[in-house]
Amino acid sequence: MSLTINIYYTGKNGSAKQFAKEMISSGLVDQVRSELGNKRYEYFFPENDPETVLLIDCWENREALDLHHKSPMMAQIAELRDKYNLKMRVEQYQMITPDNQDFETVIRNRTATRKFKEEKVPLDKINKILDAGRLAPTAKNLQPQKIYVAISKEALEKIDKVSPCRYGASTVFIVCSDKSIAWSNQNDSTYAMDACIVATHMMLEATNVGVDNIWIEMFNKQELKKQFHLEEKIEPICLIPIGYKADDYKGNPSHNNRKNLKDIVEFI
Ligand SMILES: Cc1cc2nc3c(=O)[nH]c(=O)nc-3n(C[C@H](O)[C@H](O)[C@H](O)COP(=O)(O)O)c2cc1C
Repeated sequence: MSLTINIYYTGKNGSAKQFAKEMISSGLVDQVRSELGNKRYEYFFPENDPETVLLIDCWENREALDLHHKSPMMAQIAELRDKYNLKMRVEQYQMITPDNQDFETVIRNRTATRKFKEEKVPLDKINKILDAGRLAPTAKNLQPQKIYVAISKEALEKIDKVSPCRYGASTVFIVCSDKSIAWSNQNDSTYAMDACIVATHMMLEATNVGVDNIWIEMFNKQELKKQFHLEEKIEPICLIPIGYKADDYKGNPSHNNRKNLKDIVEFI
């Protein structure tokens, strides 16, 4: 359970924006972000309102927030606020359960899990994840996806025969696409694209409901088709092992290695 607080700071002649900029340049923002239990501490500068900045402040739990309020940093923040003579308005004080995070939090929290506990994922969560896949867009809305939920001992053993990447997960989605249903012409088909969008929806919904997950490409597709007696037209696209990360799992070391926007985007 986490706490999110939206704070609007307002001040005359752009002073709220100067305050936020000084919070950033002085290193205070980074210091808060490195405090135990901080999930997010980010200023937004609304372009259409020169007198206001919005701070989104999110903590893992109430204890973490209380500790932050007692930290010496709070005096520095209050001093800066006074320096710029700002008014402060707490518009929302929201409790968010892991079952319903905001989208921004979900996409930032999703990460590859490579060591799962034995604990099973409750069926209602599995169904929510499957339903997110059902709602995914597909070419011409043809919905060629076919999802197998490997949950029995036998099915999980078969997964282990075709992939080294179950990582101990108690449930594995085998996301497939029916090539006979997907949009196609003589040269092309969207069967793989459609299934990837479905799988992405499922992965994000899993994170949304607090279920750890990973996308797996490394599996023997022909062998998987054989093991599960899949028809020729059913193409396996990826595996998604899901569950709860092991207590000693340190996280995916490459998770934060993201390129800068300027290296992957060009406005033309
Ligand atoms: C198309 C695709 C294929 C992947 N295949 C594997 C795989 O076979 N084995 C594995 O351990 N991780 C696999 N991953 C996980 C990626 O390595 C991981 O998502 C990537 O390092 C980014 O880290 P993050 O998910 O923690 O942000 C795959 C991810 C994607 C999107």
